[in-house]
Amino acid sequence: METEKIKKMIANYAINYILNNDYIGIGSGSTINFLIDELKKISYSIKGAVASSRATAKKLYKNGINVIELNQVYHLPLYIDSADEINENGIMIKGGKGALTREKIIASVSEKIICIAEESKLVKYLGNTCPLPIEVIPMASSSISRKLIKLGGNPNLRLKNGKPFITDNFCFIVDVTGLKIINPIYLEKTINQIPGVVTVGLFAIRKADICLLGLRNNVKKLL
Ligand code: 5RP
Repeated sequence: METEKIKKMIANYAINYILNNDYIGIGSGSTINFLIDELKKISYSIKGAVASSRATAKKLYKNGINVIELNQVYHLPLYIDSADEINENGIMIKGGKGALTREKIIASVSEKIICIAEESKLVKYLGNTCPLPIEVIPMASSSISRKLIKLGGNPNLRLKNGKPFITDNFCFIVDVTGLKIINPIYLEKTINQIPGVVTVGLFAIRKADICLLGLRNNVKKLL
């Protein structure tokens, strides 16, 4: 309940960063669902949104926000999303809800990335409170897992109701724990180069430019 209150508070605060923008990128997850509720109130001030998941697109439509495809715009001035973890440099672990690939694509074309997250997601060492998600081509999940073990990780195929979790891109997710994320940019590049990897949920090459951290009673700007 407390966490929900904090998520709502940050979402409400983040709206100040959206006013008078044109098209914006919108992430996925429960924090972003609160943001979309807020967005509804100022939908007149944006041209529309690019959604990072089918779930986000559905909620945006439902709230009367114009949803466009990424292919319809050249670039985006702003992308707002949450994260599973963020460090003080703005490097994030994302993909807890499985939308990491589309999130990373939108992040890559956005001028500014704002991460909104409750304080508990701010970590000193990435990967200590949540696994690192990796979206993979289904036929490669085992070969990729063997390579991740060689890198020192413990990979687990993400399941839903006893069956592999299927992403919006019809791929699987391998969640890996135990990797030492000492050089995040190097690790992001290394994992992305394994054949069959679609995207790793490490956002180090393109990290958050601004982080709005939700404390108990107020919001702190971290970056
Ligand atoms: C989705 C994500 C989310 O931003 C992350 O999982 C945080 O979710 P929530 O806002 O529900 O705590 O990366 O792929």
